[in-house]
Amino acid sequence: MTSTSSNARARQIVDLLKEVPLFAGMPDDDLARLSLLITEKHYPRDTVVVSATDPGDALYIVAEGEVKVSLWSDNGREIILSTLGAGSFFGEMSLVDGEPRSANVACLTDALLLRLGRKEFLQALRSYPTIAINVMTEVCVRLRRADESIGNLALLDVYGRVARFLLERCEEEGEVVPEGHLIKKIPTQQHIASRIGTSRETVSRALSEFQRRGFIEQRGKGLLVREGLDPKAVSRSRN
Ligand code: CMP
Repeated sequence: MTSTSSNARARQIVDLLKEVPLFAGMPDDDLARLSLLITEKHYPRDTVVVSATDPGDALYIVAEGEVKVSLWSDNGREIILSTLGAGSFFGEMSLVDGEPRSANVACLTDALLLRLGRKEFLQALRSYPTIAINVMTEVCVRLRRADESIGNLALLDVYGRVARFLLERCEEEGEVVPEGHLIKKIPTQQHIASRIGTSRETVSRALSEFQRRGFIEQRGKGLLVREGLDPKAVSRSRN
């Protein structure tokens, strides 16, 4: 690579890093120094980037695309813990605590990932307290979500959890329309099942019941979720 093209590449990476909340608050000069330690790579959809129990060797930042964080049960069922989109990072846990990878991470779409090696990440944490605080903040967000999921598993039946999943989607990406929220891209029933710890067939039954009761309605490729879908109420009505 010529020095002109490597400069252009470094500038490109700095532009990407500026969009990443992990590096929020870092001056451009520091981002430029950091960019020299980062490599970028395109991954086709379905590529496994990190495997549970492997040793942790790097932190990854999602520059483009979406990945899923999941575990596999002994009987081959996938449990999706989270999905992460552009601007998110993963792989920090094993780097910080020195334990093996806690979960698998695979690409849900074609993705462009930035990779920062273990030594460089730990050095960056020491040199830039802002990064350390940003990592802690995100880990707190993830812990709160995990606490909420544990609560939902105990408090809601499967129908309640399907309802909760739909409402979370509405909050994250739903368009507000007069009747409620429109989720533009409906996740597959298998995806919902893997997120809430049940089978695809059960998700299908829950969606049919919500449709019959007028809580949801298919709108082309999207899904209209009407006001009034209440996870606790749909759970209670079945107990
Ligand atoms: P690490 O354990 O190194 O490798 C797997 C990564 O998945 C982990 O770091 C985190 O970055 C990410 N991860 C694990 N559990 C969750 C979760 N509940 N929510 C979001 N990301 C997670």
